Amino acid sequence: MDKQQVNKILIADDKLDNREFVRWMLTKAGYHVDTVEDGPGVLEFVKDDTPDLILMDIMMPGMDGIEVCRRLKSDPATRDIIVLFVSGIADRRTRLDAFNAGGSDFIAKPFDRVELLLRVNNLMKVKRYLELMHNQAKTLEQEVEKATMQLRTAYEKLNEAYVETVEKLTVAAEFRDEETGQHIRRIGHYARAVARELGMDNTFCEQIFYSAPMHDIGKIAIPDSILLKTDRLTDAEFRHMKDHTVIGWKLLKDSKSEMLQMGAAIALSHHERFDGTGYPHGLKGNEIPLEGRIVMTIDVYDALRSKRPYKPPFDHKTALNIILKGDSRLPRTSFDPEILAVVERIQDQIADIFEQLKEPET
Ligand SMILES: [Fe+2]
Repeated sequence: MDKQQVNKILIADDKLDNREFVRWMLTKAGYHVDTVEDGPGVLEFVKDDTPDLILMDIMMPGMDGIEVCRRLKSDPATRDIIVLFVSGIADRRTRLDAFNAGGSDFIAKPFDRVELLLRVNNLMKVKRYLELMHNQAKTLEQEVEKATMQLRTAYEKLNEAYVETVEKLTVAAEFRDEETGQHIRRIGHYARAVARELGMDNTFCEQIFYSAPMHDIGKIAIPDSILLKTDRLTDAEFRHMKDHTVIGWKLLKDSKSEMLQMGAAIALSHHERFDGTGYPHGLKGNEIPLEGRIVMTIDVYDALRSKRPYKPPFDHKTALNIILKGDSRLPRTSFDPEILAVVERIQDQIADIFEQLKEPET
């Protein structure tokens, strides 16, 4: 493409002779030239058209060229138009004002025709170069944006697959495909709600949401004869059952993922009790990681709400009361009192989670 053909110049001069002479000269050089005779004329012209360059006289009726230039430069739509001042007034003050207003160059009248043409050609080259840079930056920005989007989508898909894998593995471990695994989903929701109410940061709340469901993952190594037994477990069987905490921890502990590391801590500590009577290590109070104390509490609540071979499902109030008051098997001292207080405070949310993620009727 011949750039000279599309380069547009506007001449702003109140003297007809000047306008017509420069128009003739620049048209001959291949430029598309328009003319206006005063400052307001320039501002009117640029509403409909955008010249590449304006040859601007300074002393003009209505508004002087310096003020016109200032206005053009303050408007994003016209800021990139190059202004070349051509003026009979060429004192130092005027020239400085012209440059301060955003003018790119200044030629004193009377001017040398060849010099004027050369300066116009040079400014036009600069303009095209700036446009090229601008367009390249824009293209680059779009490419980066596109790549970022693709990366984000890929990351989201990967994360989804990762979370689903963990979920499926946990379901397989605990329910051996017999049930839907709603229990483990509820545990994630309860745990996040409790963590939020405790004032934990967002990272902790999201991590516990995904890792709490892994608490019983160690059951994958417990034989069906024990895991699915409906009668009371013998002491030996119960000892074997207790191993699911350590097995789960061993499965997850070496992961680089913080989510799986939290899952390991929860697997190991979700049967510890605040008063030190739990297993596998008989830890007490804050020796038990917070995530373990949270999951222990809500795991008991959820077990109370669920049907077991040896008990009916309890309603929300009954289950909550058993935890808050304690019973012979699980005294109140088994729980972290701060977490109990939180569970009591957000009990409506806890009840809602159970209702919304109930096992489907069979
Ligand atoms: Fe467990």
